[in-house]
Amino acid sequence: MPKTAVITGANRGLGLEYCRQFLDRGYKVFACCRAPESAEDLLKLKQGNSDRLETIPLDVSNPAQRTNLKYTLQGEQVDLLINNAGMYGHRLNFGEVQSEEWHKVMEVNTIAPLLLVQELSESLSAGAKIVLMTSKMGSIADNTSGGSYIYRSTKAALNAVGKSMAIDLAGRGISVAICHPGWVQTDMGGPNALISTETSIKGLIDVIDQLKVENSGQFFNYDGSIIPW
Ligand SMILES: NC(=O)c1ccc[n+]([C@@H]2O[C@H](COP(=O)([O-])OP(=O)(O)OC[C@H]3O[C@@H](n4cnc5c(N)ncnc54)[C@H](OP(=O)(O)O)[C@@H]3O)[C@@H](O)[C@H]2O)c1
Repeated sequence: MPKTAVITGANRGLGLEYCRQFLDRGYKVFACCRAPESAEDLLKLKQGNSDRLETIPLDVSNPAQRTNLKYTLQGEQVDLLINNAGMYGHRLNFGEVQSEEWHKVMEVNTIAPLLLVQELSESLSAGAKIVLMTSKMGSIADNTSGGSYIYRSTKAALNAVGKSMAIDLAGRGISVAICHPGWVQTDMGGPNALISTETSIKGLIDVIDQLKVENSGQFFNYDGSIIPW
């Protein structure tokens, strides 16, 4: 039986590369994204892997779609759940921040990952692994440049969510990795970013391979090093 991975934000950037590399490793992949019908790169990937790649509509902030995913996965044992979908939000400086944008980004970056894990909890296999895609920008210790209130705070809060989940799910043998992918060439990272999606995901898969209950709940860089909170 192939192992099963569920990946959010699977249509582009790091999510798409996760799909590629886990398919290469023989996984069955449930690739979730907002608009599967127009996700061209994902559909191309499906051409050679139609037996192991299933696309599922999921706006992570949509409760009905999260529940729909739970029913779609009934009868499956999910070995790996990658909460990858995320957004930066408007780049607002001190004096410009407003609550509507903050709520929107918090919903996607912080609240949805936890609610999705809760929704899919019964489908998670004993020994399943959960990945939360966070950012070094959520590290308070690493903040030397200020600004980015919304993105930083939603990722710092996601880190807190990840730590609690790691403690709460350890008894089921489920482990949680809170992962920074590096500064990566994607739409979010931009063209000046330092590393490719291939390099980032290859590193993160090594982190996932080494993840176990004993080292669960840590803030991992893509190269395996630990980032201070
Ligand atoms: N790139 C970097 O340098 C970097 C650094 C640190 C952390 N990260 C984190 O890594 C993750 C992936 O980043 P990326 O660079 O691949 O970003 P990206 O290129 O901007 O892609 C973002 C992905 O998230 C999806 N998404 C956004 N809001 C969503 C929603 N409400 N429901 C479902 N999907 C949604 C997007 O879907 P649509 O196509 O539908 O918009 C897209 O698939 C994010 O969590 C990001 O914060 C990235």
